[in-house]
Amino acid sequence: MRTVFVGPPGSGKGTQARLLAERFGYDVIGTGDLLRAAVADGSTHGKIAGQAMARGELVSDAVVNEIVHDYFLRPNRPANFVLDGYPRTVAQAEYLTRTLAETRIPLDRVIYFTVAVEELVRRIDGRRQAENRLDDNAEAVRQRMVTYEELTRPVVDYYRAAGLLAEVPATGDVEAIHRRVVELLK
Ligand code: AP5
Repeated sequence: MRTVFVGPPGSGKGTQARLLAERFGYDVIGTGDLLRAAVADGSTHGKIAGQAMARGELVSDAVVNEIVHDYFLRPNRPANFVLDGYPRTVAQAEYLTRTLAETRIPLDRVIYFTVAVEELVRRIDGRRQAENRLDDNAEAVRQRMVTYEELTRPVVDYYRAAGLLAEVPATGDVEAIHRRVVELLK
């Protein structure tokens, strides 16, 4: 199963991707996690990415597309994967479509996580207190929501038009949401 997780910040994409990895062995490609690792490494990519991330803006399509391209063109790429947080712009979605056509591994499904804004803010605030992520402060979170509405919501429409979209109400118990996701991936 090859799937993309799309949804606003704090909607649980990362949590649900980790569960699929633990229980079914899916490979997870989380661009946010990969970028945070690049920031921690202090690489050139990481320095540029870190500034955008701290402001709650997107890292450039060129940087993120390169990460994903390298991943899909390597010889031992896994058969089953979850793309968590990519694509996030229509340009990235188009790039992914071309890359997957090149490698002959089309997507099976795109899971769209829906959660009310007040709950998103509550979750991210909880994580800020526990983890101190650089973009979980109030100003960056506000900007991430704006960025999501402007640049990522059109990605939802892109996949709806392609007939790949499945929506999951992502509030309530983590396990119950996991079962809904598994059902949608059958
Ligand atoms: P990224 O790391 O992808 O962050 P995000 O999309 O903003 O998502 P979050 O990690 O905040 O939330 P999530 O949906 O994964 O939820 P989670 O499971 O963590 O991206 C960060 C930044 O990197 C971007 O802003 C951008 O700058 C850059 N970037 C990344 N990808 C990019 C791309 N493709 N192009 C350009 N730039 C890119 O859950 C959130 C919290 O809620 C956790 O504490 C969790 O424990 C809790 N929780 C989860 N589920 C539940 C539940 N059911 N009930 C209660 N709490 C829950």
